[in-house]
Amino acid sequence: MNSLTPRDLKIVPRRMDFALPDPLLRHWHSNDPFKTHFFNAMSVLFPDGERYFIDSVRLFRDRIDDPSLQEQIRGFIGQEGHHSREHVEYNDRLRALGYDIDQLEMPVKKRIRFVQKQFTAERQLAGTVAMEHFTAILADALLREPQWLEGAIPEMKQIWRWHALEETEHKAVAFDVYMQVCGDRDLLRKAMRQATFFFLKDVTLGTWHMLRRDGCANIGTWARGMRWLWGRDGFFTRLIPVYRDFYRDGFHPWQHDNSEVMRMNAAEFADGLVR
Ligand SMILES: [Fe+2]
Ligand SMILES: [Fe+2]
Repeated sequence: MNSLTPRDLKIVPRRMDFALPDPLLRHWHSNDPFKTHFFNAMSVLFPDGERYFIDSVRLFRDRIDDPSLQEQIRGFIGQEGHHSREHVEYNDRLRALGYDIDQLEMPVKKRIRFVQKQFTAERQLAGTVAMEHFTAILADALLREPQWLEGAIPEMKQIWRWHALEETEHKAVAFDVYMQVCGDRDLLRKAMRQATFFFLKDVTLGTWHMLRRDGCANIGTWARGMRWLWGRDGFFTRLIPVYRDFYRDGFHPWQHDNSEVMRMNAAEFADGLVR
């Protein structure tokens, strides 16, 4: 299958230095503990997760002859490396607020160690392809629909929008590598089912932990949060159709052509400057 990735796509890491507020406002998203900790819980997964993504693509780097895909791999590694570093700083702010980030990271680190030891290189890459689809559809929603970050403090809006933009730019890199070196669709589907389970589990546990530390882990907060995610027009509910596209034969990430959204948002982060 030919890649649908735009031939003129440039994947260039932007050097950002967000200088996140220190201390971070405890409920930086709309003064809403659930929304804040939902994003925080995703941030907790990124440093280890993104290092894993880089490692899994590196395993196949020397089997790629196409110079333009090679160039994209370089961009992908650079971008994910930067994300990982920025989220380390973000997570340090959460530690400083008293959340037990080490405890939340531990099962993620363990799982990654297990996967890297026990799974084939192809299966490891399939996991990355699945998670990249996840991040791509979340990113598209954040860029296209400002309501999901409305009410957040500007610094946090910026870090999430920057991350979303770069996730969109490199969304098909791991996929294109996978299709060249393996291409097994069933393995991709299996990886997606597992990735979905662990992503939802980790984000739920992380959100719950931080709500509990704040003394906000009650039915009302949780029910409102679940409605925001899964209710009619909820953040996750609206993503179900694009999520399911991944399971189709012949799926390619750029069948969701959001290059226009990408271009419109790129200006905000031109030259690595936060404007
Ligand atoms: Fe990333
Ligand atoms: Fe990514």
